[in-house]
Amino acid sequence: MTALPAPLMLRIASAEKVAADIHSFELRAPSGEDLPTFTAGAHVTVRSPNGSLRKYSLCNDPAERGRYVIAVKRDPAGRGGSVDLVDRTRAGDTVEVSAPHNAFELAGKAPSFILVAGGIGITPLMSMARSLNGEGRRYTLYYLTRSPEHTAFRDALQGADFGGKVVIHHDDGDPARAFDLWPILEKPSAAHVYCCGPRALLEAVRDMTGHWPPAAIHFESFIDAGAAARPGDKPFGVRLAKSGDRFEVPAGVSILEVLRSRGHEAPSSCESGTCGTCRTRLVSGEADHRDLVLTEDEKATQIMICVSRARSPEIAIDR
Ligand code: FES
Repeated sequence: MTALPAPLMLRIASAEKVAADIHSFELRAPSGEDLPTFTAGAHVTVRSPNGSLRKYSLCNDPAERGRYVIAVKRDPAGRGGSVDLVDRTRAGDTVEVSAPHNAFELAGKAPSFILVAGGIGITPLMSMARSLNGEGRRYTLYYLTRSPEHTAFRDALQGADFGGKVVIHHDDGDPARAFDLWPILEKPSAAHVYCCGPRALLEAVRDMTGHWPPAAIHFESFIDAGAAARPGDKPFGVRLAKSGDRFEVPAGVSILEVLRSRGHEAPSSCESGTCGTCRTRLVSGEADHRDLVLTEDEKATQIMICVSRARSPEIAIDR
């Protein structure tokens, strides 16, 4: 079983259903003491009773020192960790939780923020909105969900703190009724854009912000190598140009995981193709890019090894 670095053993102080298939968990230290601090956009990794590790964004205000609040989507089509956490834990249980880590941090100097959430992607943006409320900074939160019943935090978002800063849109599952973000993103401004949600929403925002400064656009998703796998993925070879080592990368396993399993150190953070930490120079071969970081120009010479694969039988990378 994979070990979490210096895990915290936290008590589930409360667990409740907050929307269709979304469950909120309040986690506290059994002794009641303060928890390690976090910043808006941070996530923790939680071990489910079946041993699975899943990342969940913290959605409460970072100013709160005594608790972490996460919201978990119970997705029967997922890999089972979240269903297990929802179905097999209850208030009073203890769970293993990593210290918070942030790969989706608010830009300190931005004059304003455009927050775009799709479904369960609201969680890190909820913490950001709460933090920005506390600091009196400008933002608008666009929260896109299927229906009112699928909308977590509805009551909180109707509170005075959020007045005039939140747009909630329901599409009833009909793509023809999707919210049109283009009028908001058409003209670049000094704002920073933060987007978290399903892959289609991330890609839509990426496509609509190609003319913005890249440093002003931020994405978060918890697609890992397994979840990013596509039907028809094939094994390929990866050659390390510096050491000359060559490894096979099986379907369903990332280059990053293969390198680590062979004792190579490789920095990473999000492991979902959104933060840029694992950026590696592509020496030869054709990559199958699956990240949301690289520009079209960069794709010829770089690869994000946490999610991207190869179209050619072999690629060489600068390691
Ligand atoms: S670790 Fe974040 S993009 Fe690869």
